[in-house]
Amino acid sequence: MNSALDLVVLVCLGFCSVVVLGRPHHSGSDLGSNFVSENMERDIDTLKGPLNLLDTKLVGEPVFRNLMVELDVKFEKHEQWLLLNATLDVYLNIFSNMLKENHPEEVKQGLSRLRGKVEDLKRSYYQDRVKMKIQDLKDIKTNDAVVQRKAVNEFKVVYQRASQLGTILHPRVKNPTQG
Ligand SMILES: *[C@@H]1O[C@H](CO)[C@@H](O)[C@H](O)[C@H]1NC(C)=O
Repeated sequence: MNSALDLVVLVCLGFCSVVVLGRPHHSGSDLGSNFVSENMERDIDTLKGPLNLLDTKLVGEPVFRNLMVELDVKFEKHEQWLLLNATLDVYLNIFSNMLKENHPEEVKQGLSRLRGKVEDLKRSYYQDRVKMKIQDLKDIKTNDAVVQRKAVNEFKVVYQRASQLGTILHPRVKNPTQG
């Protein structure tokens, strides 16, 4: 998308889809969007020759294809998220290991940019916010008198929330909070 006309067309398409569908067509599921940018395509193309990527021996037994197929069939979205996070880690290691080898400069630059894209993606969408919050909670100084008194002040709110969610998630468990 490098001309002003493309931008106009894009804006118009976006607007029309809002009018027609009542929402941007990429909302909800982004499965239809192409996240692999032209720059990424170009970087991958520059690797093809030097790394002999079109070698027929490579095509028969792919590394990730089974997982990509299984994701939707066998795993919940949250599990997919964890598995893709781990898969991105594998790619980070692969790119890093390849960068240690003797490759032409353009190959190194391509690999390095692709690794950067993976790092950006992980930073944007694969931070474990729950794990981070749990760490914050573990860091609370439970032997500090000021913290203790603040906590007592907030106790009812927290107890209420925890009880509410517990009964929603496990409605059949006998309510232990009576009395
Ligand atoms: C994703 O992987 C990183 C390690 O690279 C880890 O620190 C993070 O907790 C993982 N995120 C999830 C959601 O598991």
